[in-house]
Amino acid sequence: MIADAVVPVAGLGTRLRPLTRALPKELLPVARMPVIEHVVRELADAGVERVVLVTRKGKQAIVDHLDGLEDLECDVMAVRQPEPRGLGDAILSARAALPDDVPFAIALGDTLVEDGPEVMRRLSACVEDGKADIAIALERVPGDEISRYGVAAAAGRVTSGNGAIPLSGVVEKPLAEEAPSDLAIASRYVVPFSIFDALGRIEPGKGGELQLTDALQLLIDEGARAMGIPLREGEARHDVGSMETYTAAFLRYALIDPELGPVVREQLRHG
Ligand code: UTP
Repeated sequence: MIADAVVPVAGLGTRLRPLTRALPKELLPVARMPVIEHVVRELADAGVERVVLVTRKGKQAIVDHLDGLEDLECDVMAVRQPEPRGLGDAILSARAALPDDVPFAIALGDTLVEDGPEVMRRLSACVEDGKADIAIALERVPGDEISRYGVAAAAGRVTSGNGAIPLSGVVEKPLAEEAPSDLAIASRYVVPFSIFDALGRIEPGKGGELQLTDALQLLIDEGARAMGIPLREGEARHDVGSMETYTAAFLRYALIDPELGPVVREQLRHG
C-alpha cells in the first residue's frame, strides 16, 4: 500500500458561506464525525501511514481536531499553503514533507467516498503493480453536472478485471458540450513524485489557479501511463463543498449509522 497521502484543506469554502465564515468546511459534521476525520480515517483504514494536511491561516482547528485522536493508525502532520492559489499549488506546498521519488496518494479534504479504503487500495495496487504511473478514481455523472468536475478522456476500453480504463488525458471543468466523457474525477488519486516537477512547469489555468489536472495532463503528454479506476456500486462520492451536497452527505451518513438511521427515518416520517 502507498504509504503517504496529501490531503489539501486550504480552500476558501466560499460556496458554503456564511457557514464557513469562521468554521472551515472540513470541520462541518457529517453524522458522527467532521468531514476531515472521515477522510483521514478512510486513508488510515486503507493502510496509509502518513498524512500531510495542507492548511492555511484560520484552519488550525482542523489540525487540533486530529491531534491525539484515539485509534487513528496513521501519523498526521501539517504544512501551509501561503495563499489559496488552487489545488495544484496546494499539492506543491506538500513537496518538502514527502519522501523523494516515491508515489503518493491525494485525497481531497472536502470529499467523502463510501467504502473509500477499498477504492484507495485499488488505486494503490494499480500503481504498485506497475500497471500505471498515475491512478485516478472516476465516477460517472449526469451530463448537466459534468462541468463541475475534472473530467477524464478514455484512451481505450477497460483493460483488466478491476475495470481500469487507460486514459489519454484529463480536463478541468469543461463545458458540458466539450467534455470528453461522463467520467468525473472522484477526488482520490495516486500520483508519481514527478507531479511536483510538472506543477512547477505549468501556468495558472481555469480560474487563474494552478490546476492539478493541468500537471497530470503534462505528465501524460510526456509519456506517463494513467489509469482511471471507476467507483463501483456502493462507492458513492460525496462532495461537501456546496450546501446541497453537504446536506445530502449528512443525511446519507446519518441514515447508514446504526443508531442515528432510525432517528432520521422517524423524523422524516413526521416531515
Ligand atoms: P474547491 O475547488 O472545492 O475550492 O477545492 P474551495 O476553495 O475549497 O471551495 P469554494 O469553491 O471556495 O467553495 C477542492 C479541494 O482543494 C483544496 C480545498 O480545500 C478542497 O479540499 N484547495 C483548493 C486547497 O487546498 N487550496 C486551494 O488553493 C484550493
